[in-house]
Amino acid sequence: MSPLASLTTILTFISVVCAATSWTTTPFNPAAIPLAVRSPYLSAWLAQGAGNALNDVWPTFWTGAIVGWAGFINVDGESYVFLGDPDVPNASFQKAVQKSFEFTSTQSVFVLSAGPVDLTATFLSPVEPSDLANQSFPFSYLALSAASNDGQPHAVQVYTDISAEWVSGDDSLTVNWTTTVGDTITHQVQLEDQTVFGEVNDRIQQGSAFHSTLNSTGTTFQTGQDVVVRAQFIQNGVLANTQDTDFRAVSDDWPVFALAHDLGTISAASDPVIFSIGHVRDPAVEYLIANDATQNRSLFFWSQISTLDDAITTFLQDFPNALARADAFDAQVNADASQISSNYAGLVALSIRQGFGAIEITLSKDASGQFNTSDIMAFLKEISSDGNVNTVDVIFPTWPLLLYTNPAIGKYLLIPLFAYQATGQYPNAWAVHDMGASYPKALGHNDGNDEPMPLEESGNMVIMTLSHFQRTGDNSIITTYFDLLDQWTQFLITDALIPENQISTDDFAGSLANQTNLAIKGIVGIKAMAEIASIVGDTARSSNYSSISASYVPQWQQFATSSDGKHLTLSYGNDSSWGLSYNMFADVLLNTSVFPASVYDMQTAWYETVVNEFGVPLDTRHTYTKSDWQSWTAALVTSTTVRDIFINSVFKYAADEENSQPLGDWYETLNGDVEGFKARPVVGGHLALLALQAVRTQTAMPAV
Ligand SMILES: *[C@@H]1O[C@H](CO)[C@@H](O)[C@H](O)[C@H]1NC(C)=O
Ligand SMILES: *[C@@H]1O[C@H](CO)[C@@H](O)[C@H](O)[C@H]1NC(C)=O
Ligand SMILES: *[C@@H]1O[C@H](CO)[C@@H](O)[C@H](O)[C@H]1NC(C)=O
Ligand SMILES: *[C@@H]1O[C@H](CO)[C@@H](O)[C@H](O)[C@H]1NC(C)=O
Ligand SMILES: *[C@@H]1O[C@H](CO)[C@@H](O)[C@H](O)[C@H]1NC(C)=O
Ligand SMILES: *[C@@H]1O[C@H](CO)[C@@H](O)[C@H](O)[C@H]1NC(C)=O
Ligand SMILES: *[C@@H]1O[C@H](CO)[C@@H](O)[C@H](O)[C@H]1NC(C)=O
Ligand SMILES: *[C@@H]1O[C@H](CO)[C@@H](O)[C@H](O)[C@H]1NC(C)=O
Ligand SMILES: *[C@@H]1O[C@H](CO)[C@@H](O)[C@H](O)[C@H]1NC(C)=O
Ligand SMILES: *[C@@H]1O[C@H](CO)[C@@H](O)[C@H](O)[C@H]1NC(C)=O
Repeated sequence: MSPLASLTTILTFISVVCAATSWTTTPFNPAAIPLAVRSPYLSAWLAQGAGNALNDVWPTFWTGAIVGWAGFINVDGESYVFLGDPDVPNASFQKAVQKSFEFTSTQSVFVLSAGPVDLTATFLSPVEPSDLANQSFPFSYLALSAASNDGQPHAVQVYTDISAEWVSGDDSLTVNWTTTVGDTITHQVQLEDQTVFGEVNDRIQQGSAFHSTLNSTGTTFQTGQDVVVRAQFIQNGVLANTQDTDFRAVSDDWPVFALAHDLGTISAASDPVIFSIGHVRDPAVEYLIANDATQNRSLFFWSQISTLDDAITTFLQDFPNALARADAFDAQVNADASQISSNYAGLVALSIRQGFGAIEITLSKDASGQFNTSDIMAFLKEISSDGNVNTVDVIFPTWPLLLYTNPAIGKYLLIPLFAYQATGQYPNAWAVHDMGASYPKALGHNDGNDEPMPLEESGNMVIMTLSHFQRTGDNSIITTYFDLLDQWTQFLITDALIPENQISTDDFAGSLANQTNLAIKGIVGIKAMAEIASIVGDTARSSNYSSISASYVPQWQQFATSSDGKHLTLSYGNDSSWGLSYNMFADVLLNTSVFPASVYDMQTAWYETVVNEFGVPLDTRHTYTKSDWQSWTAALVTSTTVRDIFINSVFKYAADEENSQPLGDWYETLNGDVEGFKARPVVGGHLALLALQAVRTQTAMPAV
């Protein structure tokens, strides 16, 4: 074979591999598909890559660890697997054939044909940010419906089970379980030996997983060894309504928790049967209050329910309404994002569940043990990078998601940080980096040894505070924490113009003195504090800070512009350096007009000259980039062509079928390879254009 011929062969082979999916995909094939993604501990995905069908691989936790979730459908006595990759030695079944896959902001919908019947599996992870009880309820739906595809009636039964892998990061640990049968059949499984607030391999070693369905005619259940329970259904189409009470390790004869429905004889599409899956723990978060004391906090929904059993039943019964709300939300998001482009709409739809999947909304209890519904705090896990709690520079890139959907949740994420620093236990003059080193322990940093990002976090806190007020008119943070905000602003005033050698949020890129982008954040932050001072009527302070900020701008321009006037530098005086000056988005978002239009035009023109195949590098130190910061930059440039270069680059990476993990925000611009992060909430930053649109037009959040 000539070298050319062998190259042709290779290229042909590659194109076949890339076109591996034999089903239709709408809007595109993401690296991993969200199946049940509601919280840091309810986070099940289908690793998709170049095209895994729903029944090619097991669902995985965001880390990649398997969470057993199997599904079978029996049609006229023939059995087909539709979910997971189970091996059932003594029973014979086929693989259903995937026909289509579609995702929206809240749903992942698969259609598979099981011989003469088409099964539709809808994985709905509700996103209901306007209702804190609903948003904090860590449950997700699976709806199954079947329709004949050959015009003939068929007898159909459907089955799903979960394993105990949903409750532990260590499969050698012992679990126990119970099944309750009433209006609802619920399997509950948990570790026998729990560690409150303890994680193993990013899995909480506390609380329980729940697998439930409404009990109707022909509903059956069973617990027991995986191969035994699955063989029972495959061979009989019903379960035995029996419980295995030999409690044992997760991996010891793999106990599974199964539910089945007899759909009867179907021809047209059947009504869906609904399963729910959840992971609940209580208390959820440990939070440091004054005098080095700790407080236990519970998920918000507990304040609105009588029993968890009832709440699960209500959740299951509410499915038709929940679906209607989800459809309305999806349609609104899609309409808003489609005003930018269809690629943008796809990217946003993929990002929303991932963003909210890192956030939990909590309450404390008062002295009498009653929930204090005035004391709402939200917590965010810095998933995959280091597991910190409420990292300020992770909330900051995520902010557009909250601004667009419900800015109050943004406030609830900031409150724990403000309240902690107001206790005086944090010793540094600047804003703290995070609320705790490892989720869900929000224990502060009384030793002052948090990851030091003084300019980054001080600027972020002031900017987000003003942004929250502008979007909501709620001045409560400003009035309660004015002194802290002013304290951090003093730091900005001394450090923003000539930033000392320090790291920014992009800590993986290393530290640097005189970072142009950090200076931008600080200078906008000072102006934001001027606005904040004006909101509380402190006009003297307001005009003082306004003039300080304004006086920094020409000096900064002098320091930060390359000698040929073509671009901002990465650091002052280094003409060969440049980077994404994404912090200018804060100036646009807040309408503070700190920087002259000429700087925006210069940067816009520059980016167009430095774009690689998968986007514009973060800065000249490396060829990698960030999807969130490119999205922010897309929202600040002055040309739609350049805006679309950024959006289409991020889209190309997200849709390139080269990766198989929940979307990573840090990737290589030369070939689209993931650099290391995954499943982080910062993909909320992909909504920067939506947030800006909403703020500018003062439109309300999407109705749900
Ligand atoms: C499969 O069937 C064989 C023969 O009946 C039996 O010995 C074995 O235990 C069965 N295995 C399972 C996993 O049920
Ligand atoms: C919250 O969920 C309940 C069912 O649990 C439903 O009745 C209610 O409409 C939901 N609220 C919102 C605002 O979505
Ligand atoms: C299972 O273990 C938990 C935690 O130790 C315990 O509270 C519960 O009573 C046990 N349940 C059963 C059914 O043994
Ligand atoms: C479900 O409820 C029916 C009554 O509607 C009851 O006969 C049946 O036993 C229940 N199912 C189970 C598995 O207990
Ligand atoms: C928090 O909850 C844990 C587990 O229930 C308990 O051991 C601990 O004492 C509680 N802490 C506080 C401060 O109430
Ligand atoms: C409830 O929380 C609010 C806000 O933190 C606090 O001001 C109030 O004192 C609390 N109420 C009780 C009864 O603890
Ligand atoms: C930072 O920039 C200023 C202004 O150009 C310069 O005087 C100072 O030497 C620079 N600092 C470092 C560490 O490069
Ligand atoms: C303006 O603010 C700076 C920084 O807080 C302060 O040093 C200065 O005295 C203020 N000027 C006036 C006129 O208040
Ligand atoms: C200037 O920036 C380039 C690109 O980031 C870098 O390689 C170089 O080391 C920098 N020069 C100095 C003097 O810091
Ligand atoms: C932005 O600020 C300018 C004044 O600087 C004002 O004319 C304009 O209305 C503001 N835009 C919005 C959306 O508030």
